[in-house]
Amino acid sequence: MADDNKRRLQPVERRTFLRYGLIGATSAGLGGFALASLGFLWPRPGDELTGQVPIGSFAEIAAEIEGERAPFRVPEGGLSIVRWDPSNSTAERSYGEDHAHDGSVGLMALYTQACPHLGCAVPWCQSSQWFECPCHGSRYNRYGEWTGGPAPRGLDRYASTVEDGVFVVDFGDLITGPARTANALEQSAEGPSCVDA
Ligand code: FES
Repeated sequence: MADDNKRRLQPVERRTFLRYGLIGATSAGLGGFALASLGFLWPRPGDELTGQVPIGSFAEIAAEIEGERAPFRVPEGGLSIVRWDPSNSTAERSYGEDHAHDGSVGLMALYTQACPHLGCAVPWCQSSQWFECPCHGSRYNRYGEWTGGPAPRGLDRYASTVEDGVFVVDFGDLITGPARTANALEQSAEGPSCVDA
């Protein structure tokens, strides 16, 4: 009986232990890779919208953004619509060609559903008046220009126009966000950060 117990309680051989450890680590790695791949393949908000999509009254959207001091959200498109000022020559030069304006007010459709770093959604921070990514702390001013963190550039955005008073977003024309060094409007944070709080 004592011999039987000794046989049953033999410690796992080092080679066997290493083999099972390697299988476990490989499985975990492949599982993580599969999940990450699924995340990329899974439809995200905005993926189902194509072509030119009328969003709503240009004037009403612009007024709501100003009144709320916050972007106008279009969740089904993954958008945060912000105002910009076409009378500012720097803004006009940077954004006038691709983004809607009526001569005195401009609107821009930022794609905030996917941070240019690793794809997290980037919420608006009311206190700082910036977009702040909760995943790794990248920040963007209200025009989606990069202001800090690991993201390689500003937020991507869709081209837009104003047609008969309606703000129209072209989901077929996704514009890569401005380079880190191309911040045209340099809006400073206006209060405490939401990511650090
Ligand atoms: S995903 Fe936004 S900072 Fe990493």
